[in-house]
Amino acid sequence: MKKLFIIGNWKSYKTLFDVNEWIDGISDFDFSGHESKEIIVCAPFTLLLQLKSLISEKNLPIKIGAQNISPFEEGAYTGEINGEQIKEFADYVIIGHSERRANFSETDEVLEKKVKLAREHGLKIIFCVQGSDTPIPEGVDVVAYEPIFAIGSGNPDTPENAESVAKKIKERAGVKFIIYGGSVKPENVNSFTSKILIDGVLPGGASLDPDKFSRIISNS
Ligand code: PGA
Repeated sequence: MKKLFIIGNWKSYKTLFDVNEWIDGISDFDFSGHESKEIIVCAPFTLLLQLKSLISEKNLPIKIGAQNISPFEEGAYTGEINGEQIKEFADYVIIGHSERRANFSETDEVLEKKVKLAREHGLKIIFCVQGSDTPIPEGVDVVAYEPIFAIGSGNPDTPENAESVAKKIKERAGVKFIIYGGSVKPENVNSFTSKILIDGVLPGGASLDPDKFSRIISNS
């Protein structure tokens, strides 16, 4: 059975109260039979500690990811969270999401710096690309193909097109795992994960609800 990545991206949503509720909800899910799936939740920095302690307390097979990393090491960079700090809470980090490229002017050069520092701190990298031509720095672990039109729109790409983009990326960048993101939900997840060249999904909106996220895991 191929390995699948199921990666929730909470974006800038949720408070500590919501985390407790989400964990209560996901705790009802029976994870047995899903051992070949790497289940990851990428949460806001303010929630990582709580998420980490609840996941360990309840012994849930969920890894933690951050959604951003400073392009600098520790130092006088007000408001930034660096790789060493992230590593205390998370195994993964998302780099290159289109929302960061668009709203925070992150360029390919900045993204390359972030990837380098994430690697130096032993973080695994989920690198988002918007098409098969987006530059991909060396050493990323998972590439997420996320076409902009599909994000938050309820209008996903077709599984056929997503697979053909995944094929091009695998050939071009030699990356082992390519996942798809953009309006993934329990009802359509299997149409993507059943494609040979697609190694998982990155749901945003649907990951906020523990019931939907559970059904994404079970339907994948
Ligand atoms: P969506 O977001 O599932 O809400 O479309 C995906 C993403 O932006 O990672």
